[in-house]
Order: sequence, then C-alpha cells, then structure tokens
Amino acid sequence: MDVQLILIIMHIVSYTSVNDAKLINEWERFVKFGMKPRGIDRNIASSWARSRDLGINPYKCVNYAELSGKELQERISLRDSYLKIITPYLEKIHRAIRGEGYLLYYTDELGNVLSIVADDADLAFFEKHFYFKKGTSCKEELTGTTAASLVLTDRIIVSHMSSHKYCLQLKNTTCSALPLSGENNEFIGIIGAALNFKTTNKHILGSLLSAKMGIENQLRLLSQNNELRVLNDYYSNFLGMTSDATIFVDYSGNIVNINRKASDIINEKSSRIIGKKVTDVLNFPAVLFNDSATDFTGNSCFTDTRDKKTGYSFSKQSTFFRCTTNTSEDINIIIKENNSGKFFKPVKKTEAEYTFNDLIGNSKLFSDIIELAKKASESNSNVLITGESGTGKELLAHSIHNESCRSGKPFVVVNCGAIPCELAESELFGYESGAFTGAAKKGRKGFFEKANGGTIFLDEIGEMPKALQTKILRVIQNKKITRIGGNKEISTDVRIIAATNKNIEEEVTAGNFRNDLYFRLNVIRLHMPNLLQRKSDIILLAKHFINKHIQPGQRIITLSKPVVSILKEYNWPGNIRELENVIEQALVFIGDETEIGEKHLPESLKQISKSTRVVRSGSLYEDEMRKVQKALKKADNNISLAARILGISRNTLYKKIKDFGIDCSKS
Ligand SMILES: Nc1ncnc2c1ncn2[C@@H]1O[C@H](COP(=O)(O)OP(=O)(O)OP(=O)(O)O)[C@@H](O)[C@H]1O
Ligand SMILES: [Mg+2]
Repeated sequence: MDVQLILIIMHIVSYTSVNDAKLINEWERFVKFGMKPRGIDRNIASSWARSRDLGINPYKCVNYAELSGKELQERISLRDSYLKIITPYLEKIHRAIRGEGYLLYYTDELGNVLSIVADDADLAFFEKHFYFKKGTSCKEELTGTTAASLVLTDRIIVSHMSSHKYCLQLKNTTCSALPLSGENNEFIGIIGAALNFKTTNKHILGSLLSAKMGIENQLRLLSQNNELRVLNDYYSNFLGMTSDATIFVDYSGNIVNINRKASDIINEKSSRIIGKKVTDVLNFPAVLFNDSATDFTGNSCFTDTRDKKTGYSFSKQSTFFRCTTNTSEDINIIIKENNSGKFFKPVKKTEAEYTFNDLIGNSKLFSDIIELAKKASESNSNVLITGESGTGKELLAHSIHNESCRSGKPFVVVNCGAIPCELAESELFGYESGAFTGAAKKGRKGFFEKANGGTIFLDEIGEMPKALQTKILRVIQNKKITRIGGNKEISTDVRIIAATNKNIEEEVTAGNFRNDLYFRLNVIRLHMPNLLQRKSDIILLAKHFINKHIQPGQRIITLSKPVVSILKEYNWPGNIRELENVIEQALVFIGDETEIGEKHLPESLKQISKSTRVVRSGSLYEDEMRKVQKALKKADNNISLAARILGISRNTLYKKIKDFGIDCSKS
C-alpha cells in the first residue's frame, strides 16, 4: 500500500463506534438546552452549531432546495465528462450490493445531486421520505449535519454516519460520503452511499474508496488526453510555420512532436522519435524534466542557467530553450506548460530568487504598490497579495522577503491549491517517526518548520480547503505547530505572505473562506494591478523580456510599429505572464530577422487583437473611453479638472478610469 493511500485512510472519520444512547443524549442536551456537546468529534460539534445558527429545526422534516429542470440539465451537461466516468463506477458498486437497499449518488462541488443509482423501490422510498432525488441540494444550510454536508464543508471522508446527523428524521439512515478531486486536485464533488437503517457493515466504504481512486485516475487521464489533442493541433500549426528545427516536449521530457528539420538533424524518422524522452535522443541534462508535481522534496526542476559550453540555455518558467547539437545546428526545444499555465505545481523552494530590481514598471499604480511593498518589508505583519493571474504576485512575495530582515533565511513557497487535501496536514506540519505505516523513520519537518526564521508564502490561498484554513488559523494565533503523531508543540517564527487571484472578499461572503483567517492575513494588503491598468508599462516590459530571453551573443532585437500597437491594444487576460510568453515565442519565430513583426506573434494574439479592434471601434464603450482619455489629456491628468471638463463627479471619473483600465500616470 502506498503512502498516499495510507494517508487517505488516516483522514477517514468513522462514526460507527460511538455509544449511540450517549450520543443521542448529547444531541438532546444541545438542541433543547444549547449545552455544549461532550466527547463529540470536532467536525460534528461545529456542524451542529452551524446548523443551529442557521435556524434549522432538528425536529422538522429536512428542508430541500431543488434545481429547476433547466438548471439541472445545465449542471448535468456541465459535468457530463465527469458523469460519464462516475456513474459507471456507482453502477458497478450497486451491482455487487443489489437488494441491500443502498442508494449511491454523486453531487457536484456545490452539493447538487446529479446522479443516483439504486433499485427502483429504494429510489422511490428515498424520494418520498427524504425528498432525495436528482437536483436536490445536500448543503448544510438545508439539511443540517449529514455525511454529504460534512464533505462539502470540511472535505473529509465520512464513514457510516447515522445518529450524528442534526435532524432527527435522518438519524435512522446510515450514510458514507467521500470528496472527489479533479485533475488539479480541485474539489469536484461527492460520491456517497445512503441506507435506510442503522448499520455498522463496513464493506461499502472500501468500495467507495476504490471507486474514488479509479474515478480520480480516469479524470486525470481524460484531461491529459484532451490536452494532448489540443496541443497536437497547436504543435502542427507551429511546426508548419517555423523554419527552425523544433521539438515539442511535454512536462516530463517526452517528445510530443517534431518537425522535419529537427528529425533530419537527429537523423531518425519522426515516428521513431515521438514518445521517446528528449534526453535519450539528445545529449541533455535529464534533471530538467523531473516532474515536481509529486515531488515534495524541495527540489525545483528548473534553475536559471546559461551553459555556453553545451549551448543549453533555459530559465525558470521558460517554455523554450535552444540546444546546440554536434552537427553545429541548433534545435529549439519547447516545453509545454501544464494546463494551469504554470510549470510548477506545489513548488517547494526554500530560497527567494527575486528582488525589487526584478520588478519592472514605471506606471503610477505599479510604483505605488512597490513603495507600499517596500514598507511592508520593514515590518513583520502578515501580507495578503491579491490580483489577477500573471500580475507578478509571486515575484512581489519573493522581493518582500529578500528586502526584509529575514532575507537569507528560508522562503518556503506552498501552493495551497496543489497539495492534495489528504496530504496537506503532514506536508504543512510534518509528522513524528512512526506516525503511520510508511512514514519516514525519523519523521519529517513540515513547511512551517522548514520556514522557521524566514517567510512562508501561501500561494493560491483562495484554493485552500476549509478544514485546512482552520488549522492555519490556529498556527497564526498560537505561533506553534504540532506534528502529526506528536504531542509536543513546536514554536515557529514565520512571517506569512499569502496570495490569491480570487476575489477573496467574495469568497468570504460566499462562506468559502474563513472570515477570521481573512482578517488575520489581510493585515497589509497589496493589490497587483492588471496589465491593462498599467498600459504604459507594456512596451517597457516587452523590451525587458526581449533582453531576458535573447540568446547570448544574439543581435539587438526591436519591436515593429504594428507590433507595438497590437501589444498596447490587446487585452492581456494572462497579464505579464502572457506578455512574456508572447515575446519568448516571437524570439523563436524571428530566425535571422532583427525586428519582431506581426507574423511573429501567436495566431491567437493576432486574431484577438483584430477582433477587439473591430468590436470595440465605434462602439459606445470605445467612444466613452476616448472621451475620458481626451479629457484627461487636456487636463494633464488632473482628475478634478478632467471631471469638470466631462461634467461628472470626481468619483464617477475614478470609476470610469478603473473600468476602462486607463493609466493616468505621467510617463
Ligand atoms: N513587474 C514585473 N517585471 C518583470 N516580470 C514580471 C513582472 N511581474 C510579473 N512578471 C513575470 O510574469 C510572470 C508571472 O508572474 P507571477 O508568477 O509572479 O504571477 P502571479 O501573479 O503569481 O500569477 P498566478 O496568480 O497565476 O500565480 C513571471 O514569469 C514573472 O517573471
Ligand atoms: Mg502565483
């Protein structure tokens, strides 16, 4: 059995062994007299309290919300690819236990039941008595504490729950429910089983667990297949366009496509090369292709290097490097990014690489943030960095650490969205020797211990499961951690910088992010502007990336006039990361030329830039934006004056400037 499986099993919360009479007694004391339940699992006690606070009447029939027929169809078609994998698993389990009265179901990530497998009589029974059918919701605010509601709130595996439920009506049913993870470990819903009587028979949990693993593996394969299909089209287009010898490799270093010129240099047919490791075909350092997705050792797979002798040059987050072969012809190797657009999954670095000098930009909005960030470096307070994807949040976190008195101490990056929930606790807090079978003999430090004296960067904090949020909150409050399987508290001196590209306030309002944790993190708030809000920096950044990615000894490369206007006009949904990729790719295409022209830009950018030009020109939006820009110009960016010219209030003008992403800096 592998460690992951063991860890998953560790996190199962089983509700079969408790003394039922005592439990009912605690429940009655709680619902009748509001007395704190004694000896009850923490997840349950919290859920009971929430159910009470939500005003759920424990003696009444459970409330149910139901999706309309149209909404249900929409949710089903949205989750069609999942359902095609999940439902057959439920059917398989059901075939093995037919006649035992089980109802098996899948809910989406919001708790809407999208698939049910049961005998007709059981189906009818559950619908009649519990109103459980396709389209009903399993949310805690409707049903009170149930197995499914606990998975939704705490992402734990719940086994054989009956008397622990909040509503009396449900206490005679037995339910088990498990969270399902998608290809990027995101929560995608629940599979569960319900039975209309109390039982301690455990075989159903094993079946559900193996279904969970089977489903999650298949989902990963499905996403890889889809990705490959899309990529193949992309590669074929790309390879047809470039005259350079080019090889595409995937994240693990396997060759996915190759053009004629490259296969000629290697002197082998492309059909014999595709699928092989690039390191087997070319003399190349294999270490580049270690997949850090499953690597928790702290090694990152890319380092900044320019090796003049071998001709390999590559950089962190680079998609491209050039390899000089022994025939003295260069081969371009392009590494495909993973589908989240990033190379690293849960990156575990212990050193901050960037400083404020690496952050390029002169616009007012950006300079203000940098100034604030420099002040933040002087303090020890927690920092919350928000902003769209690719706006430089991680760079900023590195820079703050390096500028602070903690520089030189560890800087540990934790991608909260990429740690499987089941592993998160041991990753963050470590474990003692013998904490579980398969654990390292000496035990292991968690990220918080590794970061001691330095900074921990909790990236993508908005993706952090709720159960983990509670644990992080406790560490922030107590400044102490306890390893799994250990009983001593270890003091930690760690500065926390968190980042998210989600609207964190909305997440708090929606109940997905803990309010108290939000307040603890949001001590210093830095919001990174998107690229549209700092238009005057676009060309500066483009030039910076040309210098960054140019080959050593290569001639000076400039941007043509049309490219300058496309870059300025494009709406940059991927922000600076996208701009960097565009420049990098243009440098691949440019060959011997010295000016980046329209033809060197990716097709998508050309098309989107054309379409935005068409859609926006002459539109009300464009007219309005021009008016605002004109007034600002006339007023030399004096807001009060510009507002007067336009005949609107200063506040309205500020709002318009923000909406249109107009850069008011005087650059
Ligand atoms: N001001 C800047 N100057 C130079 N390069 C930058 C700047 N900001 C971002 N970059 C580059 O843009 C890319 C994305 O930056 P980063 O990873 O910090 O973004 P992010 O906001 O953390 O994105 P995500 O939310 O997707 O994680 C990096 O390759 C970085 O080198
Ligand atoms: Mg980031």
